[in-house]
Amino acid sequence: MKISGAKNAALPILASSLLGGECVITNVPRVVDVTTMCKLLNMMGAWVSVEDSRVVIHAEHIHSTEAPYDLVRKMRASVLVLGPLLARWGEATVSLPGGCAIGTRPVDLHLAGLTKLGAEVSVEHGYIRAKAARLTGARIYLDMPTVTGTENLMMAACLAEGTTLIENAAKEPEVIDLAASLIKRGARIVGAGSDVITIEGVHELRGMDHEVIPDRIEAGTFLIAGSITGGDVCVDRCLPRHLEAVTMKLREMGSKVNEEKESVRLKSVGRPNGLDVKTFTYPGFPTDMQAQMMALMCVSDGTSVISETIFESRFMHVPELCRMGADIKVDGHHAVVNGKATLTGAPVMASDLRASAGLILAGLAAEGETEVSRVYHLDRGYEHIEDKLRDLGATIRRVKAA
Ligand code: EPZ
Repeated sequence: MKISGAKNAALPILASSLLGGECVITNVPRVVDVTTMCKLLNMMGAWVSVEDSRVVIHAEHIHSTEAPYDLVRKMRASVLVLGPLLARWGEATVSLPGGCAIGTRPVDLHLAGLTKLGAEVSVEHGYIRAKAARLTGARIYLDMPTVTGTENLMMAACLAEGTTLIENAAKEPEVIDLAASLIKRGARIVGAGSDVITIEGVHELRGMDHEVIPDRIEAGTFLIAGSITGGDVCVDRCLPRHLEAVTMKLREMGSKVNEEKESVRLKSVGRPNGLDVKTFTYPGFPTDMQAQMMALMCVSDGTSVISETIFESRFMHVPELCRMGADIKVDGHHAVVNGKATLTGAPVMASDLRASAGLILAGLAAEGETEVSRVYHLDRGYEHIEDKLRDLGATIRRVKAA
């Protein structure tokens, strides 16, 4: 089955259109978060046209530099307009994103970095207010390699006066894809994908035509769908090197995993063996695959330990998996999973985007029917997941909430 474009690459690239020029962005996934970002840009006055997976944006003239609470609370990634607005328009008023099910999700490192670039930043009444006549290059050290923090600062630095160093930068493929799209527009960026990114400010950016990279988390989710059902699944239009941490673990669990240039095929070989996994920043095991991996561990042979080192409360799927008969004990950042031969179908509730994916995977393997409620979480980041799973042989349908 064909993998869609990466949501977490598309979102910063869409926001970067505020830096100027005509942006033609292709392979954009049709997911709710992308719709929300396009709505936000349009509300600011950008011209936005969406046709299937192709988005064209002109942000030559905007009439607002505000990202209101009722949009930002629906999608924290709206904070990604902060850097571009400041760099190109000298001001920004962005609602604090607030927390979500997986954690408090602070943006202190974004704000500290922008302050280093010369912005005047204040937080009042739940809003970030930032001003800067012109940003000036600076040396920024990130306490945490924050993904959207790195992206916000990289975009801001593109139009700053002088050179910016972002140290301890996030190395995710989505950061590299954003940098590649900015370089096409005349940005001078070196080192994206490494710990240190150097940006030489320029006066303006032109437009670009950019195809978003495939979604490594969607690809990983479907490979685990293959493993958890003892099946044989091939994901096409993906980049195997972006999936290495996941495919290595699936091999260790006993699956046969073959990689071609732009596809990965998983063939199950009996019941997977339990093992230990620790989430980490890229190229470590992605936290966005933690819930999906936990679902697989629930039916694996033996005991597994999964440690979540990135977010403080990303185990909301545990009680729901236990309702399906899973044997999981949470102790702080660790979950100990005693694998069982089968799970039983049950009504369960999704709490966040990746937890809902984990529950669906568990439902594919469970005996009997599983009903997952609040699947609006799922629609934020997966394009037509039930159609893609059905094409792979799953019995799955969307029903109207009672
Ligand atoms: C991005 O979120 C992704 N979202 C998340 O994907 C992903 O889980 C996360 O990176 C980690 O890989 C997008 O790219 C739109 P962080 P982000 O800033 O940037 C702490 C999904 O499912 N931190 O890298 O918000 C923070 O609390 C979503 O698609 C600070 O302390 O994550 C967390 O513990 C969920 N201060 C850690 O860093 C800050 O200023 C990593 O957060 C920023 C972050």
